[in-house]
Amino acid sequence: MQSPVDATTTEAWGRLSALAHDYRPDLRTWFAEDPGRTERLTHTAGDLFVDLSKNWIDGSVQEALVDLADQVHLTDRIDAMFRGDRINVTEDRSVLHTALRKPAGHSLVVDGKDVVADVHAELEKMYAFARRVRSGEWRGVTGKTIRTIVNIGIGGSDLGPVMAYEALKPYGQLGLECRFISNIDPTDAAEKTFLLDPETTLVIVASKTFTTLETLTNARIVKSWLLTSLRDRGAIVEGQENEAVAKHFVAVSTALDKVAAFGIDPANAFGFWEWVGGRYSVDSAVGTSLAVYIGPDNFEAFLAGFHVMDEHFRTAPIEENVPALMGLLNVWYNNFHGAQSHAVLPYAQYLHRFAAYLQQLTMESNGKSVRWDGTPVTTDTGEIFWGEPGTNGQHAFYQLIHQGTRLIPADFIAVANPANPTRDGENDVHELFLGNFFAQTKALAFGRTADEVRAEGVREELVSARVFAGNKPTTSIMAPELSPSVLGQLIALYEHITFTQGVVWGIDSFDQWGVELGKAMAKDLTPAVSGDEAAIEAQDQSTKALIRYYRAERHG
Ligand code: F6P
Repeated sequence: MQSPVDATTTEAWGRLSALAHDYRPDLRTWFAEDPGRTERLTHTAGDLFVDLSKNWIDGSVQEALVDLADQVHLTDRIDAMFRGDRINVTEDRSVLHTALRKPAGHSLVVDGKDVVADVHAELEKMYAFARRVRSGEWRGVTGKTIRTIVNIGIGGSDLGPVMAYEALKPYGQLGLECRFISNIDPTDAAEKTFLLDPETTLVIVASKTFTTLETLTNARIVKSWLLTSLRDRGAIVEGQENEAVAKHFVAVSTALDKVAAFGIDPANAFGFWEWVGGRYSVDSAVGTSLAVYIGPDNFEAFLAGFHVMDEHFRTAPIEENVPALMGLLNVWYNNFHGAQSHAVLPYAQYLHRFAAYLQQLTMESNGKSVRWDGTPVTTDTGEIFWGEPGTNGQHAFYQLIHQGTRLIPADFIAVANPANPTRDGENDVHELFLGNFFAQTKALAFGRTADEVRAEGVREELVSARVFAGNKPTTSIMAPELSPSVLGQLIALYEHITFTQGVVWGIDSFDQWGVELGKAMAKDLTPAVSGDEAAIEAQDQSTKALIRYYRAERHG
């Protein structure tokens, strides 16, 4: 196996270290002295207009970052991913989420199979199903049309679908709604099935492996709820259970044998492939709930959006390549300036689950301590991604970004056209909203000096508390509107940012071994939690005390 380049030993890394030493960003001066700065540092990728000019970047930094990409062979790695090389080495898999959105008629042969043809065959099956549900042709066991889709899944089988469902509400079919059950906390299933009509509910069990404890447990809970509620209202009689399951349950998985073992007819199952990572799967059959809700045409537009960004990432030179530049800037902040987190702040309420989605995408991908050849990483990896929509975040945590002691690079996202144009008297409310978007990145970049504060008449003893240091780096991303295509472009943008950072760090961004230990231990702990004395005694002192507390406090 070829070892990754150790980025820290490259010439470009050395140059970046020298540049970072005593680095004094001065966005006020840089903007004042260089009227071409924004134009030079603004790029378009598909429909996205991306302004990097409020970042800690100048000619020398940009050149060194681009050279770093070259010296870690980023372009070769991009080619290897798109080609279907087994770059997920610890799982010995290709990484081909980009094949999920290649247009029909394209071809990509991997291990003797045209994966694009397979993708489109499965898409057609999913679209046919979506059409039947949307048109009312697919009916429940009592002959009623479907009104609610319940998606049961967790991690990548939940976060993408729920985020995209929320983001694309204006594109959904009226009279249809989706609910998402993920947590094994029984409250999740209880709340999501509360007052739900089983006769008009269709359940999608989504699990790549079809072994995930949470999903299979929730699927059994919901199956039992459905059959009991149908029986209780006399909608089905003894012996009609299999028919009811067939009309109300479908599945999405790469393991269709396990779907059948669970009791769902494989004819009602939509497949995908092991070369699609869970967190990269919203554009596969994992998006079935979304495809039903927004319809095949909009889902096609969603996929086309991903593809636009894929093509940009695959073909644009690094100095104009938006995902690559954003990933390299993240490396600059993380590894040379000690940033530990990165905020993503959409000024679009419909994107209110976007940061939650990105948390899995970025942190499950790049939270690694060894490189793809098993050797230790040579620098910090995987910053913490977080965020909330503006303007809500402004009234919660922006104080820390503006005046705290930590460096928090932030991405601001907004669209020009509101989905719900609204006036408040003289005011276009979207413009009040966007005023905040523009103001925040401006305030973060340029701050407010002590003299400016004094000039406002503030008493001298309060001046320091009212000073804004500025020079807080931000990237502004704008698009015409939050369409399915733009959402696809945004998701692919962050997928490729994540990949770029992973390449610099030499890690496998596509495995997730770090989630396994807790899963195994949870299973092993079951007898102790259920009161097996010997199993409790075998625990460490803290776990033992916690289980004993639980057993003493649990009623009944
Ligand atoms: O536990 C982590 C994980 O493996 C994720 O990577 C994945 O998205 C999630 O669990 C759900 O897995 P599955 O789709 O196989 O149920």
